[in-house]
Order: sequence, then C-alpha cells, then structure tokens
Amino acid sequence: MSDRSSAVSRDDGNGDTEARFIRRCLELAARARGATSPNPLVGAVVVREGVVVGSAWHHRAGEPHAERLALQQAGPQAGGATLYSNMEPCCHHGRTPPCVDAIIEAGVARVVSAIRDPDPRVDGKGFEALRAAGIEVSSGFESQAAAELNAGYLKIQRSGIPFVIGKAALSLDGRLATRTGSSQWITGEQARAMAHRIRAGVDAVVVGVGTVLADDPRLTARHGGGAGPRYRVVLDSHLRTPPQASLLQQRDGVPLIMTTQAAASGERQRLEKAGATVLVVAADGQGRVDLPAVLVRLAALDVCTVMLEGGSRLLTEALQIGIIDKVFLFYAPLLIGGAEALPLWGGEGVAQMDEARRLQRVRHYRLGRDWAVEGYLRTPPEPE
Ligand SMILES: NC(=O)c1ccc[n+]([C@@H]2O[C@H](COP(=O)([O-])OP(=O)(O)OC[C@H]3O[C@@H](n4cnc5c(N)ncnc54)[C@H](OP(=O)(O)O)[C@@H]3O)[C@@H](O)[C@H]2O)c1
Ligand SMILES: [Zn+2]
Repeated sequence: MSDRSSAVSRDDGNGDTEARFIRRCLELAARARGATSPNPLVGAVVVREGVVVGSAWHHRAGEPHAERLALQQAGPQAGGATLYSNMEPCCHHGRTPPCVDAIIEAGVARVVSAIRDPDPRVDGKGFEALRAAGIEVSSGFESQAAAELNAGYLKIQRSGIPFVIGKAALSLDGRLATRTGSSQWITGEQARAMAHRIRAGVDAVVVGVGTVLADDPRLTARHGGGAGPRYRVVLDSHLRTPPQASLLQQRDGVPLIMTTQAAASGERQRLEKAGATVLVVAADGQGRVDLPAVLVRLAALDVCTVMLEGGSRLLTEALQIGIIDKVFLFYAPLLIGGAEALPLWGGEGVAQMDEARRLQRVRHYRLGRDWAVEGYLRTPPEPE
C-alpha cells in the first residue's frame, strides 16, 4: 500500500522534508546491518516543529524497537510531534510490546513511513490502528530504498526463503581462478574491503567445499561495517572439509557444514570435535547438497540474507536453478585466459542471446584499480 498521494508534503526549500527524514531513518537503521534478523532494520526519528527531538534504531531482535527508543528520547516533546520510520510500526506483541501503543500513548500527531510491514501480524494493521486513534498516517516515501535496505526481511516474510546474493571476484575475462585454481588475490585492497563490508551485513555466507580445499578461507568480516555473518557455511556432500580448516578456528559466527546422508559418521565426529556444526540436508539429483533445501534450512535458523561466495561450481548451480536474487561482481583489470580456468558461470550456459540473464537496477562502483557491479537477477525488492 503506497498512499504517497495522501501524504502531506511540507517543502522547506531543502527538498521534500518527509523524504529527508525517512532517509535519516534509513541511515540510522543501517547501523544495525547484519544484527537484527529475523527482524527488519528500522530507524525512527521524532520531529517537533522541524527539530529532531528523538532518533534511534533497532539494535537486535529481542531489544526495543526504534520507534519506542526514539519516543523515549523525545519524552514529553513527542506530544503533537511527527514520528518518521522506514517501516510501518508494529501492532502485535512479539518479544516487545507493540510500537503502535507507545506512539498513541505519547500523543504523536503524525506518522510518516516508507513501507508497509509484510509480517502478516502487521501488514497494514499498524497503520489502521494509528488512524483509528486519530493519528495522521502517510506512507510511501523513499519506498524503493527502504525495500532494498530490508530486502532479506521482505523476501523471507513473503516467500519463506532467504534473499540470496551471489558474490565473486573476477578477471576482466570472467575467470574466478587460474587453470591451477589460484585466485588470491584477483582484486585489490579496496574491493576486498567492500566485499567484507557486504559480508558483515549478511546473516550467512556460503561456499562450496572446493573453495575450502583450494583457499582455506576464514569467511569472517574483517573490515567492520556490521556484526558479521552468524553462520559461515560450507556445502560439503561427503565431508571433505579438513578438521584443521581455518574457518573452524574462528570464533565469529557458527561454522556450519551442510552435508548429505551419504557422509561418513567418522568424518562428522572429527569435524564436530574441531568445532563445526554439521547438518544433514536433502541431496539433489547428483547426490550433492540440495541448494533449495539449504535455503529452507537456513531460514529455519532465522537467516534472512545469504551470500554465496563461490566457487565456480556453487555459483554455476545457483545461477542454473535461478536462486540468486542479486549479484556483487568485483572486476579487476586482469586477463587470466585458458579454457580450463574457472568461470563464474560454467556448465552449458544459455543458447541464445535473448536467454542471457540481464541485471536490473545496475550500479557500478570504482574501487581503486578495480570495479564492482551490483544488480538484481530476480525481481528487485519492491515496496508492494
Ligand atoms: N574469485 C573468487 O571470487 C572465488 C571465490 C571462491 C572460490 N574461488 C576459486 O574457485 C575454486 C573453487 O571452485 P570450485 O568450482 O572448484 O568449487 P566450489 O564451488 O567452491 O565447491 C564445489 C563443490 O561443492 C560441493 N557442493 C555441495 N553441494 C553443491 C551444490 N549444490 N552445487 C555445487 N557444489 C556443491 C561439491 O562437492 P561435493 O560433491 O564433495 O559436496 C562441489 O564439487 C578455487 O580455485 C577458488 O580459488 C574464487
Ligand atoms: Zn515495533
């Protein structure tokens, strides 16, 4: 529901006031990137006569919501004020009491929001409750940016499946590694720092066991920008991950190995002893860990956003079956060459040009001597 037309716009000469305060909410919300799942990222600002008297963001699930924190800060000044938030205020008792009650109690006059909360317990009912209490409600400001910020939350609420990002570092000729499997490092420091910041904002990173064997990655987020993935996942149908793998030595985030029934129990015990959590999921037609089953299993662990970080076989399978919502591709001005050098998308590929996958909402970044391209492969997150 986007009722932008009914919104009251008070232009102060600095552009749309409503959009400006919603952008502030989005900035505040983003501070908790990677920390709030399964809850959304929410920021709230209380404004009285053009002056911000309260601003806050939701820090993590189970802790107070942004709206309550901002109202607390505003205290009695919230009476007659406008409350901005990037998502519809909640109206249900979850782990914390409903924000709608706090907004009504505080005597807020107007609520301005970006998008509706698709949680079936809310889904427009928060706005309705506010209107029923005589509060003026408008929604639809900066709604695309708000939907993108909470892409994982919106997708899991609507489909039960996490939002999937595919990420890779590539040479200009589209290779992930040389023909001998060497890939460290294709891109430079700035590109790797951006990749770590993206990693810090997702709930789980996933690699194929081929990458563990070739690169021995840690899969932690080492450049700040968020809490870091709660799960560092390896897809390993027969438990080939060595117990001394670096990702098992790290404390940040649970090292999770997803395997199949076919794995030997002795290997499982060795890996569990080394600190791994081992989960058995369904196998696909080729006896490998089934990717859709992995997503369902991760959703059950409150994972809203997953980043697939390679290698070629994993990304190829994911592209083939169409589960990648968005890609972040980092390109270095290098040519690797070689028909045997691993491509981003191997297998057969498409037959005709019009079958090629085209990215939507493409963004480019210059990162020192490298570039990044970001774009959606499936329907981009929409406000509704
Ligand atoms: N440039 C980059 O961004 C980047 C990133 C990562 C890796 N790399 C490079 O890529 C190479 C590794 O890539 P890779 O293609 O050999 O291996 P990979 O994609 O990392 O792992 C593939 C393996 O994962 C297991 N797997 C389990 N379930 C799967 C599924 N549903 N789909 C696909 N694989 C599944 C399979 O082994 P089982 O059958 O035994 O389970 C499969 O052989 C290395 O050279 C590494 O340096 C580059
Ligand atoms: Zn709330």
